[in-house]
Amino acid sequence: MAPSDVLPEALAYNLNFLHPLLMLGLLGLSSYGMLLGIKAKKTRTADVETRKQLIKGKFAKRHFQIGSLILAITVLGTFGGMAVTYINNGKLFVSPHLLVGIAMTCMIALAVSLIPLMQHGNLIARKVHVGLNMGMMTLFLWQAFTGLQILNKIWDNRPA
Ligand code: HEM
Ligand code: HEM
Repeated sequence: MAPSDVLPEALAYNLNFLHPLLMLGLLGLSSYGMLLGIKAKKTRTADVETRKQLIKGKFAKRHFQIGSLILAITVLGTFGGMAVTYINNGKLFVSPHLLVGIAMTCMIALAVSLIPLMQHGNLIARKVHVGLNMGMMTLFLWQAFTGLQILNKIWDNRPA
């Protein structure tokens, strides 16, 4: 028995809109998080006078807090999208959107696992954190594009 046999059809169908809305919000939040990360680096590497000014922005602390939220929403949003696809179709489609989504979740998890090293001043860990997350942000744009294509298909096949 497929999970869609248990839920009313309209409810199962409407669940389809939860993930795209959440992920569009996450795109905004991640862009903000990226900005805070860049400012945290500016603060860390600034000369003494500029640093005195920049430090008031508490960019590193804010980046860490918003970052934790981004991590949680990415994990829940990814598995939520898979759950909704399974509820409606009784299977997952091995599509670029699925594979890139899983890759992004792995990348952000790895990037965050480097934080203890970064806090001990490890420069390589910092570079890898930034590289993985900037890569993740680039993939996000592709993901928004393929996501909207999927949404288009779901809308075309809406129940009468
Ligand atoms: C930014 C705009 C995005 C849009 C408009 C979008 C749209 C969609 C839609 C319509 C589905 C079909 C299932 C459902 O309706 O819940 C889906 C599935 C999925 N999405 Fe997204 N998505 C976006 C971003 C993301 C991101 C950032 C990730 C991961 C980091 C992701 C991962 C997935 C996964 C793993 C699935 C299940 C596999 C599949 O159905 O192909 N999506 N997405
Ligand atoms: C949205 C994607 C992200 C981008 C583009 C990004 C980028 C950056 C950048 C540019 C830095 C500064 C590196 C340096 O000082 O050389 C940084 C530091 C840091 N990031 Fe991220 N990051 C992202 C996500 C996250 C997430 C999800 C977390 C945690 C949950 C996180 C936690 C940290 C921490 C703790 C630091 C060290 C701050 C300090 O100097 O004390 N970041 N990040």
